[in-house]
Amino acid sequence: MRSAVVLISGRGSNLRALVEARTGLEVRAVLSNQPEAAGLQWAREQGLEGRALDHRAHGDRSAFDEALAAAIDGYAPDVILLAGFMRILTDAFIARFAARIVNIHPSLLPAFPGLRTHARALAAGVKVHGATVHVVTPELDSGPILIQGAVPVLAGDTEASLAERVLAVEHRIYPQAVRWLLEGRIALASDGVLQARGSGVGSDSMLSPRDP
Ligand code: GRF
Repeated sequence: MRSAVVLISGRGSNLRALVEARTGLEVRAVLSNQPEAAGLQWAREQGLEGRALDHRAHGDRSAFDEALAAAIDGYAPDVILLAGFMRILTDAFIARFAARIVNIHPSLLPAFPGLRTHARALAAGVKVHGATVHVVTPELDSGPILIQGAVPVLAGDTEASLAERVLAVEHRIYPQAVRWLLEGRIALASDGVLQARGSGVGSDSMLSPRDP
């Protein structure tokens, strides 16, 4: 694994963390379904190829995903990294890039798949929350887990304060997962089987915000 296309929809702080971590990953393009996404602007300022593909310009979900897949094919990336890409992908798209799509989700999956994860974590009263980097499979937020980062839920936390603490962990674990992929220490699989090579892959998988 050497190259990627990154898909975003908004602010792009995970994209930024991935680029600034200087992992050696070759980001061939940043694609956004939201033309006004701040992350797209940032990518262009860095000299990256930044391209908008507005989903509203396509008839339905399948038509958009076909256009998206064609755009991605033009860059021939090894993997597709979802970084705050707020669209549900069709099964056809996921099958086309089977075991080559990675996502970051702001909860400790399998807890809290879907949206508003921080509010739901607070409502559930969990004491530990976090983020997960996983392979994308047809079932939403359910694919094989590459890495997770955990944070405490503190008394007095609000959705915003918890989101901020989790986001700091997201910015560390996504680059870490990419490093492991680049080093061949983990290999993607769509069937729930992940190959891990070398020591430290599993034992590094729980990170706190204070870890170096
Ligand atoms: C992150 O919390 C990510 O986990 C979720 O959407 C948010 C995107 O943030 N999927 P950003 O655009 O990377 O700043």
